[in-house]
Amino acid sequence: MDKVSVKVCLGTTCFVMGSANLQELIDLVPRKYGDKVDVSGVPCLGLCATDWEFSKAPYVKVDNDVIKEATVEKVMAAVEAKLTKKVK
Ligand code: FES
Repeated sequence: MDKVSVKVCLGTTCFVMGSANLQELIDLVPRKYGDKVDVSGVPCLGLCATDWEFSKAPYVKVDNDVIKEATVEKVMAAVEAKLTKKVK
C-alpha cells in the first residue's frame, strides 16, 4: 500500500496564519498511523502567492489535495479518508 504523504507548510505566510499549531501533526500522525503516513514540514508550497490577499493559509497537502485554512482536525480527517480509500 502506498503511503499517504502529508506536507505541512511552514513558510512565512502559513506560519503566521497558524501553521505553528499544525506542527503537532508531525508528532501526532506517526503516533496514530505509524509508517502508513509520511508527514513533514516543508517550506512555502507556493500556494500563498497565488491569492495572498484572500489567503486561505495555512495550507497542508495530503497527497495531491490541498487543504486550506488547515487545522489538525481537518488534516486528520483527510488522512483518514485517504487511508480508507487506499485499503479498498
Ligand atoms: S507560506 Fe505556505 S504556501 Fe506559501
